[in-house]
Amino acid sequence: MSVHFSSNSNEWATPQDLYNKLDSRFHFTLDPCCTKTSAKCKKFFTIKDDGLSKDWSNERVFLNPPYSRGQQEKWIEKAYLESLKGALVVCLIPARTEVKFFYDYCTKASEIIFIVGRIKFVRENIKIACAPFPSCLVIFDGNDKSLLKVSWKKQIDL
Ligand SMILES: C[S@@+](CC[C@H](N)C(=O)[O-])C[C@H]1O[C@@H](n2cnc3c(N)ncnc32)[C@H](O)[C@@H]1O
Repeated sequence: MSVHFSSNSNEWATPQDLYNKLDSRFHFTLDPCCTKTSAKCKKFFTIKDDGLSKDWSNERVFLNPPYSRGQQEKWIEKAYLESLKGALVVCLIPARTEVKFFYDYCTKASEIIFIVGRIKFVRENIKIACAPFPSCLVIFDGNDKSLLKVSWKKQIDL
C-alpha cells in the first residue's frame, strides 16, 4: 500500500454525506485542519495557518485530524483543552482503543460513537475503498467528567 493510501497518510477527507449528517446535529463553525479543497466549514485552517496554534474556544469544531505518526495525539489533546475553554469538538478518529492517548483523553469525552462498518474516505474528490481501520466519533463538550455515553451506530443512523 502506498503511503498516500496507508493509515499513515494525512489526506483522508471526510465524505460530504457523512459530514452533512453530523453537521445537522452539531452545527459546526470551524474545520481546524484541512486543505482549501477539503475544508468542511466556511472558517477553516490549513497547514499554513497551523490550526493547532489557533484559538477554538468559541467554536463548534469538526475535527478529522492528520493521520501521520505522532499527529493524532496532539490534536486530540488540543480538542480536549479547547473544550474546557468552551468549544464543542467532534473528533472523527480511528477507533484504536489500545493507544495511550485514547485512554488519556477519550475517556474524558462526553460521548463516543463507534461507527459500525468502515468509512469510505475521499481522496482527490473520489471516494476510495473502505479505510483500513475502523472509526469513531469522540465528542468533547467541555464537561470535564468521565464519559457519559457510548454507542455503536451505522453511518446511515448518525
Ligand atoms: C484527515 S485530513 C481532514 C481534511 C478535512 N478536515 C476533512 O475532514 O475532510 C487532515 C488535514 O489536516 C491538514 N493539516 C495537517 N497539519 C495541519 C495543521 N498544523 N494545521 C491545519 N491543517 C493541518 C492536512 O493537510 C490534511 O488536509
